Amino acid sequence: MKNDTQKNKKLDQLNTHSTSNENEKLTTDQGLKINNNQDSLKAGDRGPTLLEDFILREKITHFDHERIPERVVHARGSGAHGVFKLNKSLKAYTKAKFLDNVGDETPVFVRFSTVAGSKGSTDLARDVRGFAIKFYTDEGNYDLVGNNVPVFFIQDALKFPDLIHAVKPEPDNEIPQAASAHDTFWDFISLMPESMHMIMWVMSDRAIPRSLRMMEGFGVHSFKFINEEGKVHFVKFHFKPKLGVHSVAWDEAQRISGVDPDFHKRDLWEAIESGAFPEWDFGVQLIPEEDEHKFDFDLLDPTKLIPEEEVPVEIFGTLTLNKNPDNFFAETEQVAFHPGHLVPGIDFTNDPLLQGRLFSYTDTQLSRLGSPNFHEIPINRSVNTVHNNQRDGHMRQQIVKGKVSYEPNSIGGGCPYQAMMSEGGFVSQEERVSGEKVRRRSESFVDHYSQAKLFYNSQSAPEQTHLQNALIFELSKVTIPGIRERMVGQLAFIDKTLAQKVADKVGVKVKKLVEPNQSIPADGNAS
Ligand code: HEM
Repeated sequence: MKNDTQKNKKLDQLNTHSTSNENEKLTTDQGLKINNNQDSLKAGDRGPTLLEDFILREKITHFDHERIPERVVHARGSGAHGVFKLNKSLKAYTKAKFLDNVGDETPVFVRFSTVAGSKGSTDLARDVRGFAIKFYTDEGNYDLVGNNVPVFFIQDALKFPDLIHAVKPEPDNEIPQAASAHDTFWDFISLMPESMHMIMWVMSDRAIPRSLRMMEGFGVHSFKFINEEGKVHFVKFHFKPKLGVHSVAWDEAQRISGVDPDFHKRDLWEAIESGAFPEWDFGVQLIPEEDEHKFDFDLLDPTKLIPEEEVPVEIFGTLTLNKNPDNFFAETEQVAFHPGHLVPGIDFTNDPLLQGRLFSYTDTQLSRLGSPNFHEIPINRSVNTVHNNQRDGHMRQQIVKGKVSYEPNSIGGGCPYQAMMSEGGFVSQEERVSGEKVRRRSESFVDHYSQAKLFYNSQSAPEQTHLQNALIFELSKVTIPGIRERMVGQLAFIDKTLAQKVADKVGVKVKKLVEPNQSIPADGNAS
């Protein structure tokens, strides 16, 4: 049965911006009724079209500007509205109000995506899936911009453009659209030992989900919870699908891609339309601040997960998707997530990948959405009212009255912040930071293979076969033998039998690489 979405504040707010064209007469953008939408204005029946035809000009001009740039990554996506319900209070750990009262419901908009393909690529590509959630809380928007894999390829944001340039279609011929099967991707990966754990996940069945409703979501980085008393916990976020985690096999994925490249998009849409609302358990792993260094990896390293046997995932809430967007472009395309959209009680960590993301999202959205006022686009608006001294800019919607747009001031207006501080305004978690200004990787980030091994060993025999076959398929597409060889050398650090099986099939020998400290030089470091 369909949920009652009446109480959803965000949907109520969106409704004030929506309209229907049903039974309405055609007008221009200025509201002028149009009496002929078939013929342009001409000089004589067979003569040239007149420049003065403002109706033609308006229509064509708008059409000419319909496209905006697709996202630089995660271009292909599917979105849905829903609700997050808290089933157990997290008040002991965080002062975030939406995580306090049991039973509270927070409106959400979720966008799932593939990472590498263009907006028109297939849903069934072997790829990571984005799992981005905008919580419209009473304290402002909180965004959890995660993936369906709990770790990432690289440890430092400085490598992100390189990773994406390697995985995207090659610049000369724009081939291939598939996420990974090509020289540049495997060249980069074979030179990037820190990516091996992620590669195990991406070559596993996790990277070809059966449905968006049947995949997990992870915040990936460690974040922080801060409670009323200022006590800090590190936290890892998890979403576990009530339908279980399911994948398709590679040959199925390829066939589905041929028959229906919109397979995931359609599946999500139809499930929601029919009332089979997708649901996830929301869970967290909590680590008291004083235990930060008790692991044999660094909590700030995004290529590592915290094994659930060491820190169990505790379930606190339910995420339900219960309404399809009314308009793909207005909602799914224009939604703008950002890992730095926080509420009091949640903060980010010094994870060097996350730190770079904090810069990247607003920056890219300025060019993708074209104006510093993209927070005013209905899907991005907070349900909490927005008051500040920002003003002007392209496409400004809000009409702020009065002559003062600064503070402090003695005239009145201008949003004083002092009152806010005593009323629970956001305060960054205070943290002691010291050290030299350095451009190098922490020693605590150097183990690249232990968790890759753990993951490979955790796979059942059929799953290991799928993973091997995926590597064989991928590396057999690589045209440069040196890359295949170096990649097999990397696999040997994870599992010798895996490396040998892949090597035999892709026609190279397993050469021993020198175990790298941080990253190996471009000659491949083969000994
Ligand atoms: C989208 C940058 C790492 C998850 C994007 C976008 C950019 C970006 C520029 C497009 C945003 C837009 O146009 O609105 C980066 C950088 C990273 C990084 C610089 C590393 C330094 C990650 C990681 C995750 C992630 C580690 C997962 C934890 C996502 C998701 C989206 C996205 C889910 C799609 C959001 C949507 O649906 O609109 N990223 N990203 N990214 N990123 Fe990242």
